[in-house]
Amino acid sequence: MQHLPSLIGHLPETEEPSVLVPTMGALHGGHAALIKAAREIAGKRGSVLVSIFVNPLQFDRPSDLAEYPRTLEDDLAMCRELDVDTVFTPSSHEFYALDHSITVTESRLSRRLCGATRPGHFDGVCTVVLKLFTSLRPSAAVFGKKDYQQLAIIRRLVRDLSVPVQIHSIETVRECNGLALSSRNSNLAADQRTDAARIHRALRAARDLRENGEQRPEVYLEAARYHLLQDAPPEMKIEYLELVDRNTLQPLSAVTGPALLATAISYGDVRLIDNMEV
Ligand code: PAJ
Repeated sequence: MQHLPSLIGHLPETEEPSVLVPTMGALHGGHAALIKAAREIAGKRGSVLVSIFVNPLQFDRPSDLAEYPRTLEDDLAMCRELDVDTVFTPSSHEFYALDHSITVTESRLSRRLCGATRPGHFDGVCTVVLKLFTSLRPSAAVFGKKDYQQLAIIRRLVRDLSVPVQIHSIETVRECNGLALSSRNSNLAADQRTDAARIHRALRAARDLRENGEQRPEVYLEAARYHLLQDAPPEMKIEYLELVDRNTLQPLSAVTGPALLATAISYGDVRLIDNMEV
């Protein structure tokens, strides 16, 4: 496995597919699933690249950036085990010029859901992803549906700026109890992880209404809210719970087409997001 702390003079020119998995490290089973998907897409002759970079541009709170888990040695071991060809781990000052002054702005899909309370977050994501694409020149990249809004915005970035990278996605990987794997779960105690599993149960309970042909968004939202909050620990709070169109991410007046139930929960200091296609 090639470990690239910086890019200078290292990137081989290749005609074969190269598939990038962008991450911020603290790798877990969700990232492993992305890497395996990347391997499948790359095929035997193609290569798999993983970037590990805690991107300061996408953090709206300095404390969140400081507390983000960093486990580089374990991450490199996981990449080696999964037969990753190249791991890119730039430092922040190397990746961004000190006086860097150009960023990418997304102005529609990022207004709601996570974007509503995290100003600048998705601009930071778009900027780093575009920069990773232009630096590493992958033919394809893989993202998780766990961050559905991010995935939708990256598809839009690639479409609107004609970026020649194919975007693939994978389903959310979960613990046995349904809790979506997340680097932030390491900030939860074992009993809190059990509590947090109610998020998935609540989304599932609401989604099941679709089978009865339910079309009223408020019925889905009420069911999800009930399961989220009933007997929940008092420090568990709903930041948002929305039923939106899967493509536009706009709220629905009736559930007739592909919909997405998406939520962000704050549990003490930990922010958890999850979603379910309805
Ligand atoms: P990070 O949170 O490390 O996630 C990297 C990728 O892993 C994203 O595509 C995310 O959707 C996916 N992922 C995380 N948990 C998952 C799970 N349980 N199941 C499936 N996929 C999962 O998302 C970012 O980093 C950053 O914003 C990044 C895109 C790297 C830009 O900095």
